[in-house]
Amino acid sequence: APLAGVIGLPIVHSRSPRLHTHWLKRYLIDGHYIPMPVMPENLAEVLRALPRLGFVGINVTIPHKEAVLTLADVVTDRAALIGAANTLIFRPDGKIHADNTDGYGFIANLRQSAPDWTPDHGPAAVIGAGGAARAVVASLLDSGVGELRITNRTRVRSEQIRSEFGARVIVYDWAQAGNMLEGSATVVNATSLGMQGKQPLRIPLDALSPDALVTDLVYTPLITPFLAEAQARGCRTVDGLGMLLHQAAPGFERWFGHRPVIDDETRRIVLE
Ligand code: ATR
Repeated sequence: APLAGVIGLPIVHSRSPRLHTHWLKRYLIDGHYIPMPVMPENLAEVLRALPRLGFVGINVTIPHKEAVLTLADVVTDRAALIGAANTLIFRPDGKIHADNTDGYGFIANLRQSAPDWTPDHGPAAVIGAGGAARAVVASLLDSGVGELRITNRTRVRSEQIRSEFGARVIVYDWAQAGNMLEGSATVVNATSLGMQGKQPLRIPLDALSPDALVTDLVYTPLITPFLAEAQARGCRTVDGLGMLLHQAAPGFERWFGHRPVIDDETRRIVLE
């Protein structure tokens, strides 16, 4: 039976094993998906050993998403641009192929959750400039958004994104985050603020149009204070769980040969 899994540290909180195991059962596939805690100093050795143990690929999470790029034989353009990989394929010829499906998952979830959303509705506004934000920025630009506004507490990180991703990116100061929302059609929280046990994301929403689609990458809780506030202003919102589910689908298909469906049952299983 083919093996896949996820490496990270810590790894116990990962929802991926539940998700992939559900799909394996649902599609009657004889395979296994295993969570594996891996320390940074063991990463290279682990990547060499896994194919020999019968692994066809793995997901990669914190703190290994950047380091695997230097150890892979083939890196997709989008993984290189984002600067991180979340999906590895161990090819039969022994080569390690590294991809980043986070941005794909972000857009696929938007398209499934808000079918009438299109990138040409207007500017997109991204709050945050960390690893997750880079994937969101790459995918929004790729999908054809004409103007991408970005703000981050640490301004240099958004300026770095502008210098790498080009002139469609417009940097706003963290203190101007509220102004950034004016005229924005798509608004994304890509910071970790709003997560259970953390402070909520607090930016003035007075300029936010009720026509804007507002989404959050945080999914614990599903309705973050930021999404609740946007809803109160009449905005349609999309929660972050869908991105987690959609980013997992390409890996599952490559490893196990079946494109998984993402529906309410999938959401329920992962939340249980
Ligand atoms: P991830 O890979 O999940 O994006 P990250 O690269 O550590 O993780 O990025 C976390 C994001 O949340 C960053 O945009 C970070 O802002 P900084 O770049 O200024 O650190 C943002 N963030 C985390 N805690 C924050 C806080 N208390 N206030 C404002 N932004 C915060």
